[in-house]
Amino acid sequence: MNAIAIELTEISKTFLADDVQTSAVDGVSLTVQTGEFLAITGPSGCGKSTLLSILGLLETPDRGNVRILGEDCTAKNENELALFRRGRVSFVFQSFNLIDDMSIVENTEIGLKYRGVKPALRRKIALDMLDWVGLAHRAKHRPGQLSGGQQQRAALARALASDARLILADEPTGNLDSKSGEAVMDLLGSLPARGKTLIVVTHSLELASRATRRIAMLDGRLEVGNDSV
Ligand SMILES: Nc1ncnc2c1ncn2[C@@H]1O[C@H](COP(=O)(O)OP(=O)(O)O)[C@@H](O)[C@H]1O
Ligand SMILES: [Mg+2]
Repeated sequence: MNAIAIELTEISKTFLADDVQTSAVDGVSLTVQTGEFLAITGPSGCGKSTLLSILGLLETPDRGNVRILGEDCTAKNENELALFRRGRVSFVFQSFNLIDDMSIVENTEIGLKYRGVKPALRRKIALDMLDWVGLAHRAKHRPGQLSGGQQQRAALARALASDARLILADEPTGNLDSKSGEAVMDLLGSLPARGKTLIVVTHSLELASRATRRIAMLDGRLEVGNDSV
């Protein structure tokens, strides 16, 4: 297996909105090893979410090279990127992004459904993952019937069900009270031991402190003197 999970070289991304150009990411190079738990911190607007979207192949940079799980993704088009992501990259968002009119177990197995996994098997995998996050007893509930902390745990079950090796989380505890946040942090912290590479964007010092490495961004760049534990 390739020991390097992610290799970004001189990545830049500029947005144009209402004739205003914003340089969101400006010349970032970053290497992440398989099994790392990397925290990305920095003030609002410094480019963290844009960088995470580039890492997860949701956004393409204007300049630079993107290598994910040993494959050069720089020249892939949107369809190729979507295919490549499937089963390799999973996301966890601040606002959970569960589908409201589907049950928790249906939400959890959705990635497996898209990949053509048979109903009985995907249900079993989803229930196993819900058991792992302590929500097996809520499998038939709708997201709206659960607390924020429970919804985020379901989103983690969904992220893990697809067996992706790369888990990307953008402010995963940002909408949670401290007790629910703690449970989500514990689950996130257990991912590297399951062979996952985890990258988390966060304002939470506590979540960042659990990472094996922390990098800080400012104005689209990585700050010098970044910590490499
Ligand atoms: N889709 C977009 N269109 C226009 N500007 C954007 C877009 N996404 C991000 N930006 C701008 O890029 C900069 C970085 O944004 P973002 O990556 O969301 O920062 P952070 O996650 O650190 O708060 C901000 O100035 C933001 O307004
Ligand atoms: Mg953001």
